[in-house]
Amino acid sequence: MSQTAHIVHLTAPTGPADAATPPLLQVENLAVSYGRIRAVDGVNLHVEPGRIVSLVGSNGAGKTTTLMALSGLLPLASGRIRFAGEDITALAPELRVARGIAHVPERRRVFAGMSVRENLVLGAYARGDAVDIASDLERMVALFPRLGERMAQQAGTMSGGEQQMLAIARGLMSRPSLLIMDEPTMGLAPQMIDLILDTVLEIRKQGTTILLVEQNAVEAMRLSDHVYIMRLGRIVHEDSGTNIDPERVKSFYLGADA
Ligand SMILES: Nc1ncnc2c1ncn2[C@@H]1O[C@H](COP(=O)(O)OP(=O)(O)OP(=O)(O)O)[C@@H](O)[C@H]1O
Ligand SMILES: [Mg+2]
Repeated sequence: MSQTAHIVHLTAPTGPADAATPPLLQVENLAVSYGRIRAVDGVNLHVEPGRIVSLVGSNGAGKTTTLMALSGLLPLASGRIRFAGEDITALAPELRVARGIAHVPERRRVFAGMSVRENLVLGAYARGDAVDIASDLERMVALFPRLGERMAQQAGTMSGGEQQMLAIARGLMSRPSLLIMDEPTMGLAPQMIDLILDTVLEIRKQGTTILLVEQNAVEAMRLSDHVYIMRLGRIVHEDSGTNIDPERVKSFYLGADA
């Protein structure tokens, strides 16, 4: 058995799901406000199991706000969130993690004063049944060999790319069925961007569904089965599979700001 073969932990099919597959995540009419500012205004989106779905858009479009609302870190002004067939709209963030939603936040927040290993172990405790941590750690090392070499290193002393690997691995330690990632390539060198995006594909191949926010729309589209374009708190366009046309998406993306 190859080193990567035993890290498969779910058996969902990879690649685009057919139209009849019920969504893993379904978001209806999501609205989020900061005081009187309506940052997300009536967003509808769905993510089928086994897919990579991207949410792209320019600065301030409301992408991070949307993701934070999905993982329960921001209250909704209105809307409904269904996950794996259940309404999770009112569920606390830690219970969403236990149900299978992991959120890798913007700016790769790791516990800087703790070791790589401690960060990963904390990720496992989030799922509520932290048994078999050793094999989960092995899976993360297979996915990111660099982390294996740095288990005892203080997370805050690692490079930006290494911290991003750790943030992703920590999310995966909760054994999510949906991994939400907010700009995992932000501020990284091209080689590291390629490594992170290749890993996104590998994570999907192992059975985890992915909702990805990327400012780099072209990179995001290269990976994605479906793409949503967001502007000023709303979804303004969406495209699927071979219909994803970077030029067309760019025109929606830039809109009046171009
Ligand atoms: N804590 C906050 N208080 C008030 N307004 C906020 C807060 N956080 C975000 N906003 C505003 O909400 C809007 C959406 O912000 P959000 O961070 O969701 O955008 P984004 O699409 O993730 O942008 P970026 O690509 O720059 O990360 C912006 O106008 C932003 O200024
Ligand atoms: Mg953001």
